[in-house]
Amino acid sequence: VGVSALVVDGIGMLVTGDPTLGDGPLGVVRDAAMVIEHGRVVAVARSGVAGDERIDADGRCVIPGFVDSHTHLVFAGDRSEEFAARMAGRPYEAGGILDTVVATRAASFGALRAGATGRRAEARAGGTTHLEVKTGYGLALEPERRCCAVARELTDDVTLLGAHVVPPEFAGRADDYVRHVCDVLVPDGAPSARWVDVFCERGAFDADQSRAVLEAGRAAGLGLRVHANQLGSGPGAQLAAAMGAASADHCTHLDDVDRDALAASGTVATFLPAADFSTRQPYPDARRAIGAGVTVALATNCNPGSSYTTSMALCIALAVREMHMTVDEAVAAATLGGARALRRTDIGHLTPGARGDLVVLDAPSHVHLAYRPGVPLVHAVVEGGAVVIAPRG
Ligand code: NIG
Repeated sequence: VGVSALVVDGIGMLVTGDPTLGDGPLGVVRDAAMVIEHGRVVAVARSGVAGDERIDADGRCVIPGFVDSHTHLVFAGDRSEEFAARMAGRPYEAGGILDTVVATRAASFGALRAGATGRRAEARAGGTTHLEVKTGYGLALEPERRCCAVARELTDDVTLLGAHVVPPEFAGRADDYVRHVCDVLVPDGAPSARWVDVFCERGAFDADQSRAVLEAGRAAGLGLRVHANQLGSGPGAQLAAAMGAASADHCTHLDDVDRDALAASGTVATFLPAADFSTRQPYPDARRAIGAGVTVALATNCNPGSSYTTSMALCIALAVREMHMTVDEAVAAATLGGARALRRTDIGHLTPGARGDLVVLDAPSHVHLAYRPGVPLVHAVVEGGAVVIAPRG
């Protein structure tokens, strides 16, 4: 074991995420140790290894850190009243987004940074070692810039979501706003971003408008993502597939043609079950998507309107209980699936060469993530080989 090594020893059950390294689809190894050097996994070994720094897992389960591939962490304001009204019967409508736009535009950079950093810390405490962060509550040049700058401090997977909804100053002129997004907001944000996204839904942007935004993003060198088929059936999933988007997100209302298109294109269907939970939508039909050969991911969609949670464990529990995913499928979707949705090979698994991102669970197996819903099960978190949440005392 060389210099600057971290060894996690005494692992009762190691979920590597690589079936060539161990048993089953998750590549499970028992009584293992994990060696990380210079931020990267260098070996999966038998228990009993020395190292400069050592965590004794004492029989606990270790999993790859969660990859949350869909978040809106940068915002100001609170919409708990909207949530309470919804639980009393009011339907979810995209229009609530504008309340957050007003609050976000009024917030200083420091306030936006403090809020987003706090939510990032909360996600980390829940085992999320990497996340994507969208803009989309500024919807004008300066506030989108502020949101983008805050997002860039949190991740290298920044997504431009200028096409979230039409802001008030463009009311009734959606095509003019789409032109503004394509000509101004996307080129301005592109140097700090990796992705462009569009909310393709009734009440937001139609297929032609969404295509224009995605084409502008592609021209600016960005990869493509789409908010698709959240509130009803629509063109989003097929548009995402046709344009080779990395991910179609939500996918609550898919038909066979949508599923076949996603499977054929390799576009990941990213399910956001906490949004379906918080908006009283039906849950996506994960079994049919998996059966059709679609690659699936799970993400939180943390935002103040439809899904105010950073908990990937909650998403796993919902996917298992409500969407009939097996525990192995759900854990894979929350780790490797998220990495695939972000077209990354360095995270979401613990194969030698991968980033040293892992979670020591206060549990003997990953099944506890669904078996013990609502219980904090994170014992320690390692990001890039650094212990960022120290073992619970
Ligand atoms: O993914 N659907 C669009 N955007 C968010 C909702 C944002 C909000 O309600 O503030 C979502 O659910």
